[in-house]
Amino acid sequence: MRALEINGGTELSGTIRVSGAKNACVAILPAAILADDEVTICNIPELTDTDALCEILKSLNVEVKRASESMIIDPTNMKNVEITENYSKKLRASYYFMGALLGKYKKAVMYFPGGCSIGARPINLHLKGFEALGATVKNDRNKYIVEAEELKGANIYLDFASVGATINIMLAAVKAKGKTVIDNAAREPEIVNIATFLNNMGAKIVGAGTSTIQIEGVERLHRCFHEIIPDRIEAGTYTIIGALCGNKLKIDNIIPEHLDSLISKLEEIGVDIEIGPDYLIVNKMDDYKPTQIETAVYPGFPTDLQQPLTVLLTQCNGKSKVVETIWENRFMHISHLNRLGADITVKNQTATIIGPTKLKGTKVIATDLRAGAAMIAAGLIAEGTTIIANVEHILRGYEQIVEKLTNVGAKIRDKEI
Ligand code: EPZ
Repeated sequence: MRALEINGGTELSGTIRVSGAKNACVAILPAAILADDEVTICNIPELTDTDALCEILKSLNVEVKRASESMIIDPTNMKNVEITENYSKKLRASYYFMGALLGKYKKAVMYFPGGCSIGARPINLHLKGFEALGATVKNDRNKYIVEAEELKGANIYLDFASVGATINIMLAAVKAKGKTVIDNAAREPEIVNIATFLNNMGAKIVGAGTSTIQIEGVERLHRCFHEIIPDRIEAGTYTIIGALCGNKLKIDNIIPEHLDSLISKLEEIGVDIEIGPDYLIVNKMDDYKPTQIETAVYPGFPTDLQQPLTVLLTQCNGKSKVVETIWENRFMHISHLNRLGADITVKNQTATIIGPTKLKGTKVIATDLRAGAAMIAAGLIAEGTTIIANVEHILRGYEQIVEKLTNVGAKIRDKEI
């Protein structure tokens, strides 16, 4: 089994270059099949989630050519066959093929998607959106057959501003007849990036990034060139690591505005951050103040940074609180942080962190992707050796994390245990 071994206590300095956004990329690759010609996408992160989506594309007879950070996707000869249960279960984002295949062929057959176990993760809002556009959904245990004779634009109100449902409905609606309006749409930067990609292919989408997205259906989508935005969650994770052990640690190739909620929390705690046009420089300081955070949809504090931030709160003087409002099961990292020496209790959806506590290396588990990032952050400041098992969760979402941290001075290595 692969594990990460970290010898903590070293100061990190130098530059970490942030990769393309995982959560934009995993929707853009399925969205590419909507084109009638080949599309070129650059700034693609090298992640196991990206590899899994390429396998699905190939299973649909889509040609995928990859050269370093760019990819050419040619759906000219694609076939709309069932996406097998094995492929569907490999990751959450396989469900974007539902919207994309429905939009292109008016039929999608696939299974319930996989992904991190951070909650029940239902897809009812996606399906409700497809139905509003005129599709019927047949569901037999894990299998879904979604089809329509014709897709017609509709007014869709999302009961919750779901990222996945907003994107999936956009994918199904771009070629529908007439106008679709999504109200209470999610506003995450990844949604804007995906809408830009679709518009680059000839779609007519306005309002992405606001709560109301309007989509005027078009008949054809054509070739285009598109760049994926920098990963704000990867950037935020390294910024938190900088607050824990950085000495002029530069987090480069980012869009600082995407990290506003994190930056203001870190400044409130007492972290020293210089904000550049496309970078941050972070210095660890002494005497951090405790704080309270509540996760929320964008532009609120991102749930995906809640777990790494908890590690920083173990180093603040006093009592901090974290309220998780998006996922019902996103505190699995806490028992492992406590094993490392933290003093954290969880009641319902609130974690109470008493700090500062000295962390001491031991064997822990990356229970999910961002829990894994939290374990790395903790291992970097813990005394002695931390071994993190279940590394595959981390590799789903952080490109070359071992190399990036090693380059700035961390003692971290990938090993078999
Ligand atoms: C996306 O998940 C991200 N994943 C998640 O990132 C992220 O945590 C989440 O958005 C919130 O920001 C991808 O982009 C692949 P949602 P998604 O639909 O789209 C409920 C990471 O670490 N809901 O906004 O699945 C749902 O249960 C990951 O990179 C329904 O009830 O999130 C949750 O409580 C993990 N019915 C809430 O909405 C639905 O049909 C938010 O889910 C859909 C969602």
